[in-house]
Amino acid sequence: MIYAGILAGGIGSRMGNVPLPKQFLDLDEKPIIIHTVEKFLLTSEFDKIFIATPQKWILHTKDILQKHQINDDRIEVVQGGSDRNETIMNIIKEAEKVHPITDEDVIVTHDAVRPFLTHRIIKDNIDGVLAHGAVDTVISATDTIITSQDGQRVQSIPVRSEMYQGQMPQSFNIELLRNSYDALSVEDKEILTDACKILVVANKKVELVMGEMYNIKITTPYDLKVANSIIKGGVLGD
Ligand code: CTP
Repeated sequence: MIYAGILAGGIGSRMGNVPLPKQFLDLDEKPIIIHTVEKFLLTSEFDKIFIATPQKWILHTKDILQKHQINDDRIEVVQGGSDRNETIMNIIKEAEKVHPITDEDVIVTHDAVRPFLTHRIIKDNIDGVLAHGAVDTVISATDTIITSQDGQRVQSIPVRSEMYQGQMPQSFNIELLRNSYDALSVEDKEILTDACKILVVANKKVELVMGEMYNIKITTPYDLKVANSIIKGGVLGD
């Protein structure tokens, strides 16, 4: 089975004082999450598309899907978790209720608040995860990356050609991810907030898929303005 997991379990605190979690705010007259879901619906390979939201926003999510005439029966709205990885694990638990998980099953996970991913990126994730077991979407770093542990002094300046910025989707063989996650201590679960990092610390290989500059995550009010400009600028790919 090929599952999609759209992660919408956060509250968007960095978006400031807004009436709804950011994934439900409008972008070009349609909630951000609807843009994202529509991209996933264009991919016929998915057997099921889970959308995980906070418990109290499940009904709202179902309402807006209906309002935007999205009634694909592959979609299921489920409850998110206390952090992003827990949201992924909750989706896997829900998938298991539909069908026992096998060694071949994979999941493409994506932030609800990254509405500009393309069909090409999704397809490369599916092909990559089926071939290699784990995939991270990245773009080459264009700025020089500076590291500093104390935030006061430059510690190192790594070679830029070896630096990438992490995007989403991240895709996993479900058993591989779950086994690596279950092996973590409670403390490590708190620190390892990036799902790919769980595999990296477990010495598992994670393949790179190239993202796009415009595949941005909407985190702050500034990002929402940038997202509106991206739509109006007509730079988006298929
Ligand atoms: N997310 C999730 N479950 C959580 C926390 C976050 O599914 N428990 C999702 C968010 O809904 C978002 C994505 O992960 O689509 C990226 O996370 P981030 O931008 O950090 O979202 P929030 O946690 O909502 O934002 P903030 O940190 O500003 O509160």
